[in-house]
Amino acid sequence: MLAFLLIVGLSFYVMASYIGSMVSDSLFQQRIRSDRASLETLAVRIAPLLARSDAPALQSQLLAAGGEMGGRVLLLDQNGKVQLDSYGEMQGVRLEYPEIATILVRGQSADYGVHELEKGETLDTAHLLFARRTTGSWVGYCTAGVVYASDIIGVLLLVSPVQEIMQNLYQLQDQMILIFVLVAAAALLSSWIFSQVITRPIAGLNRGIQRMSKGDFSSRVRVRGSGEMKQLARAFNSMSEKLETLDQSRNQFVSNASHELKTPLATMKIMIESLIYQPDMDKDLRTEFMTDINNEIDRLSAIVSDLLTLVQMDSQNVKLSRENLSIAQLIKDNAHRLQPIAEQKGQKILLTLSDPCDIYADKSKLNQVIYNLMENAVKYTQNGGVIRVALQRQGRDARFTVSDNGPGIPKENLPHIFDRFYRVDKARSREKGGTGLGLSIVHQLVLLHGGAISVESEEGKGATFIVELPLHQG
Ligand SMILES: Nc1ncnc2c1ncn2[C@@H]1O[C@H](COP(=O)(O)OP(=O)(O)OP(=O)(O)O)[C@@H](O)[C@H]1O
Ligand SMILES: [Mg+2]
Repeated sequence: MLAFLLIVGLSFYVMASYIGSMVSDSLFQQRIRSDRASLETLAVRIAPLLARSDAPALQSQLLAAGGEMGGRVLLLDQNGKVQLDSYGEMQGVRLEYPEIATILVRGQSADYGVHELEKGETLDTAHLLFARRTTGSWVGYCTAGVVYASDIIGVLLLVSPVQEIMQNLYQLQDQMILIFVLVAAAALLSSWIFSQVITRPIAGLNRGIQRMSKGDFSSRVRVRGSGEMKQLARAFNSMSEKLETLDQSRNQFVSNASHELKTPLATMKIMIESLIYQPDMDKDLRTEFMTDINNEIDRLSAIVSDLLTLVQMDSQNVKLSRENLSIAQLIKDNAHRLQPIAEQKGQKILLTLSDPCDIYADKSKLNQVIYNLMENAVKYTQNGGVIRVALQRQGRDARFTVSDNGPGIPKENLPHIFDRFYRVDKARSREKGGTGLGLSIVHQLVLLHGGAISVESEEGKGATFIVELPLHQG
C-alpha cells in the first residue's frame, strides 16, 4: 500500500513540475517581456544623458518612466551604486542583486528575477508551484544595461510588484493540493476495490486449504472473482467434496468392519463362557456349542479374507494374472459347484449359454464374480425357485446375466447394493452367513476387467444381475 502511494506521489510530482514550468511561463513571461522592453528602450534613451552626467534630465526621465511602468526605477553606475532613484531614497547605496551582477559581470543586456521584499528571498520561476507561501510582498527585479560607445556605463533597475501573479500562483497551489488529495483518494479506493476482487477470493481459498490440511474436509469456499478464480474455487470445492465422501466412507468402512468382527466374537465368548462355567454340560449340547463356535470362526475368517481382497483391490496395484478363458466353461463349473445346495432347496439352475465367449482374464477373479452372483441367487431365492443364467455375445462384449424368481430387492435399496457391508435384510442375511461384502467385491472385480455391472429388480418378482465384460479381441 505504501509503495502504491509512493508511486502515485512520485508521478504526481513529475506532473506538477511539468505543469509548474508551463504555468510560470504563461504567468511571468508576458510580464518579463513587457518590463524588459520598456526598460531597454529607457536605457537607450538615457545612455547619452548618463554619458554626459545630465542629472536633472536623468531624474525627470526616471520619474516619468517609473510612473509609466507602475514601479520604482533606479539607475546604478558600473559599480552597482545607486545614482538615481525615482523614489529619491537610495542614492549612494550599493546593491548586490544577482540580476545586476548578470549585467555588470557577465555582460548580458537584461535580466529578470522575483524576490520577496522583507526576507530577501528569491523565487525560482521554474519551481513556482512549490513556492513557499509568505505573507510578504513579492516584487520583480528587471535590469537592463545602459550602453554607450560599446561600454556598459550603468544599469537600470525596475522594481515592480508581482503580488497579483503570486496570488494566482497560490490559487493554483490550492487546486493542485486538492487534485492530489482527490487522486490519492481515488488510488486508494481503486486499490481497495482491486484487492476485494483479486485478493479476497485467494485469501478465502487459502483459509479453505488450511482448514482442509487440518483434516476438516467439510470446508467449502465461495465461488466468486474473475473467471479463473471461479474455476479454481469450483475445483477446490469438488476436490474437498470428494475427499469428504472418501473420508466418510472410510470411517463407515472401519466401523462396519469392526461391527462385523465384533458380532461373531461376542457370540463365541458367550458360548465359551457357558462351556467354562458349566463343566457338567450335556455332551450333545457341548458338541452343538463347539460346532457353533467352529462356524463362527469360519465366518470370521471369511470376513477377514473378504476384507483383505477388498483392501488389495483398493490399493490400485492389483495384478491380474490373465489367461485365455471361456466364460461359458466357468459358468458350467460354478453351476456344478452350487448344484448340491440348489438341489437341497429344490431349486433349478437353468443355463442358456449361446456363445462360449472367449476372454483374456484372471481366472480366479472371474470365478469369484460368477460364483458370488450365482450363490446370492441360490441363497436368497426361496425353496423350489428357478435360477436362470444366460451368456451371449453382444458386439465386442460378453453379456452374462443371473436372474432368479426370489424376493427381489426393494427400489430404495438398489442404489446401495454394491456398497460394502450393505445388506437388504440385515438379520436374515446374516442368518444365511452373509457379510454384505460379496457384491462390492464383484463390482470391483468387474471394473478391474474393464467391464460394467448393473441390477434390475422388482420387489417380490426376483432380481437380475447383468455383467458386461470386454471380449478377447483377435
Ligand atoms: N439375488 C438376490 N435376490 C435378493 N436379494 C439379493 C440378491 N443378491 C443380493 N441380495 C441382497 O443384497 C445384499 C448384499 O449381497 P452381498 O452378496 O453383497 O452380501 P451377502 O450375500 O449378504 O454376503 P456375502 O456375499 O459377503 O456372503 C444381500 O444381503 C441381499 O440382501
Ligand atoms: Mg453374497
